[in-house]
Amino acid sequence: MHVIVLDSETDFDGWRSAARTMAMSAIKPDEIIWTVAGRDPGLFESTPLSTAKADTFSVPASFIDLARIAILNRYPERFSMLYRLLFRLRENPRLMEAATDDDVVRIQVLAKEVRRDEHKMHAFVRFREFGRGDRSRFVAWFEPEHHIVEMAAPFFERRFADMAWSILTPDCCAHWDGRKTIFTPGAAKSDAPSNDPLEDIWRTYYANIFNPARLKIKAMQAEMPKKYWRNLPEASLIDPLIAKAGRTTQAMIASEASAPRASQQRKEQPMTPSSDYAKPDSLAALRAEAASCRACHLWKDATQTVFGEGPPHAPIMLVGEQPGDKEDLAGKPFVGPAGQVLNRALEEAGLDRDKVYVTNAVKHFKFVPRGKIRLHQKPNTPEIKACRPWYERELASIKPALVVAMGATAAQSVFGKITPIGKNRGRLIDLDEAGAETKALVTVHPSYLLRLPDEDAKAREYANFVKDLKLAASFLHKLKAA
Ligand code: URA
Repeated sequence: MHVIVLDSETDFDGWRSAARTMAMSAIKPDEIIWTVAGRDPGLFESTPLSTAKADTFSVPASFIDLARIAILNRYPERFSMLYRLLFRLRENPRLMEAATDDDVVRIQVLAKEVRRDEHKMHAFVRFREFGRGDRSRFVAWFEPEHHIVEMAAPFFERRFADMAWSILTPDCCAHWDGRKTIFTPGAAKSDAPSNDPLEDIWRTYYANIFNPARLKIKAMQAEMPKKYWRNLPEASLIDPLIAKAGRTTQAMIASEASAPRASQQRKEQPMTPSSDYAKPDSLAALRAEAASCRACHLWKDATQTVFGEGPPHAPIMLVGEQPGDKEDLAGKPFVGPAGQVLNRALEEAGLDRDKVYVTNAVKHFKFVPRGKIRLHQKPNTPEIKACRPWYERELASIKPALVVAMGATAAQSVFGKITPIGKNRGRLIDLDEAGAETKALVTVHPSYLLRLPDEDAKAREYANFVKDLKLAASFLHKLKAA
């Protein structure tokens, strides 16, 4: 029996070099015990590794990439699982392509759990200010499931480049001074400060984006599992908001039963046969796949992929530019100020937002940090192109009768080329790519309306926006009547 003692739980280089030596000597997976310095290695002595340069063999880069992430999983058997796969790759270099192989699938699951944990850390770390002025530092307490602190740190370096911060966790702490991050051993929760004025900002923000009409408690808990709540300042609002949402919903049901206006009755009618709503799987799969999209560099600074949202076979697909600050944090399209303009205009046009699919041409937030603010940056053509396959696949899955491109970026993505708004807005255009039946409509982006400095222009442009959306609504009515 061979005993390999790695330097730490995340010692990928140590594992890689020991695994290579063992595999070259044809040592079978069940002849090795893998452990970490400090853990009890049991009854066996550590095996000295030969430093003589043996023959080498190559494994696919996809294995190395996956192994580097999977090794961060807390699962104790991961070192030996990885070795078993490596050992088999010697005989079968194409094994990674076998999508149903047990060993491949297990390692993929480990890596997926790690990525998910990293994503949660990006979304749920909340800094609290500690000290004042030049001596102030932002400190957060977080309890990751896996060994992800070093992997997740570059995201915080980029996002909070100009503030000094520390993230404390039970296994490892990261400290950024504006130039580099250093890692120290784990800390206790009591080492982190527990209250500061930033918490009020989080609470106000959360209360503002909370929409009682769209409350889906299960989905919300899947996205924000309860175990993270204890470290989230906004968590104290969740139960009261849910309770209040219940009362609001009851009030809505009661008032609907009394005397609905004719226009409201029309809006409530389903826009596609209900059987269409019963097959959400392919969109769910797309959304899951897009969560780890690396097609361009924008994922690096964004909190998460903001995928489209809405019924899987919605008759209308609205396309915006890219998520903004609030969308990036919430993981949902059009929930910030532009979303409020859009909601109001949709309602005035007689369209129900819950029955349209809303997405963006680019699915990661592009910004430059300015102090604590993140300033929106317009995506460029390579970024729009890199993201277009997601739009194409959403389109193919939803098969809407009408695609509404809001703004220049959306129009560029929808038509696959730069398409001026002024010349094309306000009329239905055949969308050849999606099939003869699909039409497109170009209009302005709701953020454009927010930016107009003069109130008259704002009112005029808003009315034109609603007029365009009314064209979409009447197209739908005609389609349903036909
Ligand atoms: N602007 C967009 O284009 N999309 C959003 O989701 C929010 C703002």
